Amino acid sequence: MAGQLFSDGEIYERLMGRWSRLAGKTFLAWLDTPKNLQWLDVGCGNGAFTEELIAHCAPATVVAIDPSNDQLAYARTLPGAKIADFRVGDAQELPFSDASFDVATMALVISFLRDPAKAVSEMARVVRPGGWVAAYMWDIPGGGTPVDPIYVEMESMGMTSVRPSNPAVSRREIMQELWRKTGLDSVETRVIRIPVLYSDFNDFWDSNTAPIGPQGKLIDGMSGSAKEELRARLRRRLSATLDGRIVYESYANAAKGRVL
Ligand SMILES: C[S@@+](CC[C@H](N)C(=O)[O-])C[C@H]1O[C@@H](n2cnc3c(N)ncnc32)[C@H](O)[C@@H]1O
Repeated sequence: MAGQLFSDGEIYERLMGRWSRLAGKTFLAWLDTPKNLQWLDVGCGNGAFTEELIAHCAPATVVAIDPSNDQLAYARTLPGAKIADFRVGDAQELPFSDASFDVATMALVISFLRDPAKAVSEMARVVRPGGWVAAYMWDIPGGGTPVDPIYVEMESMGMTSVRPSNPAVSRREIMQELWRKTGLDSVETRVIRIPVLYSDFNDFWDSNTAPIGPQGKLIDGMSGSAKEELRARLRRRLSATLDGRIVYESYANAAKGRVL
């Protein structure tokens, strides 16, 4: 399960947390919810997005769940997430009674789930009428994830795909359909674009090959020559700016709706 693959909060921050925070800021501004609400953050991981939601939305309470104990342990150390109650839990079987939150969010999780529809219906169940159910995910089939260059080059070397198990559900129209089918009201979707920036190629390589996520684990197990080939291919793909930086754009799809 992805929960066991993303197990180190500090390394996760460098791999993905910083990009999640950037996309999260735009997502939270778009949700445009009032202050002092009761929030549920589903699949909170190392708490990167949880910290953003606390900073930007001034919630009354936040419960944040994830299957990874190690990620939760890191999340509990975040200075900006002190008010959050971090607990072990599964998006597809939320351990909460009906209508117990005002808002439920799921940041960069939906494509890792066996049953995304169950997770969205679970979020709708635990949110009170009039409350919000919202999520965002990198557009994986569209090449929107910050790790897309790695996916593409690993696949072109004939390696097993390391894309999350449910890539299609990250498409904007599929998320929209899922929110509608769940019976949510006032459904809206949008694209969130962010600049991804590394100080140089080594920063890109070191950030993306740490052995915590799916691709990092696979790269860690590659032979020295295969690693060198992957590195060379990525160097060719990612042209650096004049000062050596690597810059490209990533994009996520977001969906929101209200419980009737
Ligand atoms: C890419 S991380 C996103 C973490 C965080 N929300 C963020 O935006 O940085 C994906 C997270 O989904 C969690 N996850 C995987 N399967 C899950 C499930 N069944 N229920 C809840 N979370 C799950 C993983 O443990 C991991 O922390």
